[in-house]
Amino acid sequence: MATPAAGYSRTHIILHWVIAALVLFQLLVHSGMENAWIVRMGGTAEGANPLPHIIVGIAILLLAIWRVTLRLRNGAPAHPPGQPAALTLLANATHILFYVLLFALPLGGIAAWFGNIEMAAVAHVYIQLAFLPLIGLHVLGALVQQFWFRNGVLRRMAVPDRAL
Ligand code: HEM
Ligand code: HEM
Repeated sequence: MATPAAGYSRTHIILHWVIAALVLFQLLVHSGMENAWIVRMGGTAEGANPLPHIIVGIAILLLAIWRVTLRLRNGAPAHPPGQPAALTLLANATHILFYVLLFALPLGGIAAWFGNIEMAAVAHVYIQLAFLPLIGLHVLGALVQQFWFRNGVLRRMAVPDRAL
């Protein structure tokens, strides 16, 4: 995970922002899927439309596989010099948890919807609760680094050092 590299590639940066946008969509727009699940469970609900949630969720899984492949191949840039060890630990833990969620949520959702596994749906609903606080922590960390430590970390996720 932590092989030194000069920076992130253009593809990696695009994947970071596209996945972030798609995850926000999933977290904010999910009533069609919730209603569809209620209907699946034998209840009644208006506005059941699971398709957007399924398509975007599976897209996230495929893009996350692509991103991990790139990350394993290219490595990641070293943490900015002078960053306190505690912040480095927190950043690493946040990034690893993000990757866990990017796989666990779509796979759990697929098991629930296509495998008809009720427990997977319950787990899915609990696991997704971790996403927003983690994004909050991640953004706060990026802003602290950028404006307190002034290490230009935002630039690393904006300006690529190579194409792929
Ligand atoms: C669902 C939303 C997000 C996810 C899942 C996510 C995930 C990640 C992950 C896993 C990394 C580590 C590098 C990598 O492997 O790609 C990273 C880096 C980064 N993210 Fe995010 N991110 C999200 C949203 C954001 C937002 C909203 C910001 C805006 C401040 C942001 C700013 C950054 C920056 C600046 C880095 C580079 C950190 C460094 O090089 O040390 N991310 N992100
Ligand atoms: C990163 C991808 C995903 C995220 C962030 C996500 C997020 C969410 C959220 C926020 C909810 C509503 C939870 C609530 O009731 O409060 C939900 C429900 C649900 N999602 Fe996903 N989801 C993702 C992928 C998927 C995929 C790929 C599928 C299926 C193919 C899926 C199937 C479901 C089902 C069946 C429910 C209803 C569960 C219930 O209401 O008990 N999800 N998801």
